[in-house]
Amino acid sequence: MSVKDQLIKERLPKHVAIIMDGNGRWAKKRGNSRVFGHKNGVKAVRAVTEAAAELEIDYVTLYAFSTENWRRPKMEVDALMSLLVKTISAETKTLNKNNVRLAVIGCIDTLPKDVRVKLMECIDATSQNTGLTLCLALSYSSRWEITEAVKNIATAVKNDELNVEDIDADVISNNLTTQGIPDPELMIRTSGELRISNFLMWQLAYAELYFCDTLWPDFQKQDFYEALMDFQSRERRFGKTSEQLKK
Ligand code: IPE
Ligand code: IPE
Ligand code: MG
Repeated sequence: MSVKDQLIKERLPKHVAIIMDGNGRWAKKRGNSRVFGHKNGVKAVRAVTEAAAELEIDYVTLYAFSTENWRRPKMEVDALMSLLVKTISAETKTLNKNNVRLAVIGCIDTLPKDVRVKLMECIDATSQNTGLTLCLALSYSSRWEITEAVKNIATAVKNDELNVEDIDADVISNNLTTQGIPDPELMIRTSGELRISNFLMWQLAYAELYFCDTLWPDFQKQDFYEALMDFQSRERRFGKTSEQLKK
């Protein structure tokens, strides 16, 4: 039986978050420029989106560009931004075909205008779709997001719209960019790096973490199924004991 066939539908995560890493190394191994790696990473995005849609997973969040990635050479940043514009335009039709809705989280105001326009066009064109929500984290970092949330909450308190005593985990969640989206149950990072890199730090509090050595452009549907298989073998205790869960 294939790995895909072994997956138990009822035990699939509703939300998978992915740190797509290793494009640069993939290109370097082939004697090519980093940008060549990013271009080839698009295939993996397509594969994961299609696999998640087929499995009826509700949300996939892809870390596509971090706040810290602005520190890369201008040439690479510019190439990533034009790749985004090109990809979003080219993929809108396929997203609609697969009933996928596009969403975005991050400090969108910092993106170039053409990227923002294409993003909004695609979000609008796919807004009626009812299957997978594909969420792109762009110019995103957790510390940025949490800082913004603190500012919003402080402003609400100052304006007498919120009591300090009423601030709880839900209030904080509702002030994050992922408001309304369930926390990821599984976080995948490719390329062998074992870190979070400022990604969804609040939301990943109880996520299962899965790291694989595959470089992102090589990541295929099969790799995604393997991560899901691994997820299904985990015992999620949420602070309880194993015995309590068996009752
Ligand atoms: C991930 O691949 C893509 C982005 C961060 C945009 P990298 O570009 O980080 O590739 P490596 O880690 O240098 O191999
Ligand atoms: C994290 O990857 C950001 C994205 C995948 C978009 P990086 O490759 O930039 O992470 P660090 O800086 O090496 O941790
Ligand atoms: Mg990297």
